[in-house]
Amino acid sequence: MDYDLTGPEPVAGLLLLRGEEARELRSAAHETKLRHVGGKVYLRGLIEYSNQCRKNCYYCGIRRGNAKVNRYQLGREEVLQAAAFAHKAGFGSIVLQGGERQDEAFVREIEELISAIMESSRGELGITLSLGEQNPGTYARWKKAGALRYLLRIETSSEELYARLHPRDHSFQARLDCLRALRDEGYQVGSGIMIGLPFQMPVQIARDLLFLKDLDVDMVGMGPYVEHAQTPLWDFRHEIPSRQERYELSLNAWAVLRLLMPDINIASTTAIGSLSPQGREEALRVAANVIMPNLTPYAARKEYFLYEHKICIEESQEDSRENIEKIIRAAGCEPGYFAQGNSLHFAARK
Ligand code: 5AD
Ligand code: SF4
Repeated sequence: MDYDLTGPEPVAGLLLLRGEEARELRSAAHETKLRHVGGKVYLRGLIEYSNQCRKNCYYCGIRRGNAKVNRYQLGREEVLQAAAFAHKAGFGSIVLQGGERQDEAFVREIEELISAIMESSRGELGITLSLGEQNPGTYARWKKAGALRYLLRIETSSEELYARLHPRDHSFQARLDCLRALRDEGYQVGSGIMIGLPFQMPVQIARDLLFLKDLDVDMVGMGPYVEHAQTPLWDFRHEIPSRQERYELSLNAWAVLRLLMPDINIASTTAIGSLSPQGREEALRVAANVIMPNLTPYAARKEYFLYEHKICIEESQEDSRENIEKIIRAAGCEPGYFAQGNSLHFAARK
């Protein structure tokens, strides 16, 4: 079946499909996925490097203003151990993710970590960074040290909604400038959104998906918004779609995104798993071809608490590997061990 993806209204209509019609949409996306990126799912070992953040986003549990968070930053040995686990397990890549810091000590530490991981894996591990907004010089240094990809979510493509979700000194334009700088620097660029936010209408989510296509990103990591009690948006928890509704919306969004951008890498993210035990498996079946087993050292996991019901807090690295393999196979896919699984879209645009 051919779907009308030409504008926000028809796309919003697709997001609202339920029941049999939703199943058809998702199975069309599944076919498109198989045709363009195949049935392999690539693994990125997730290392939640630090929960120190200079930002104060109204939705996020580790925002600067949350005084109840025990702040940590992993030591070099802990990061290298997690990277070595990933390398040995055949995960082609790692993601170094953390709150935003821009001071020179931080920038240098990341630079040195990247070099050390490149060296210890003989350049075999693909390194993805997700460390927020930085100046172009920092992006350049990290790229030169060996990073391949960078994830920076736009969160919403509506400048107005962005302003309601962030304090005044957090700028939508600055984020766009960062995405542009990352592209100029030669990174595989990933972005993404949250689905089911307070004040967000379905047509906005449709615009977001079209916006990601216009941005021509190589990868997308997106997921449902999940409330957190120690954040300002908690007060609006009754004004968001139900968990079930956010789940359905999210899976339709995954489907539409795959139809819009057939050759990008799309992640099956932790947040969808937090809404339903089948979440990550369903996202893989419908559209995703990347998954991120959590390799954060045990003690730090519960401190990287972005939203309620976050999963994988209690697993070891080994459990994480086994669980992910099960999820991939249950989705009818195959784990892409010992391969970086770079974005085909990136290769095509180069
Ligand atoms: N629910 C879902 N995702 C969240 N993130 C932050 N807070 C939440 C939340 N409450 C996501 C944002 C951010 C990424 C690191 O985590 O999209 O970019
Ligand atoms: Fe910091 Fe990212 Fe959380 Fe915003 S969403 S407070 S930038 S970790």
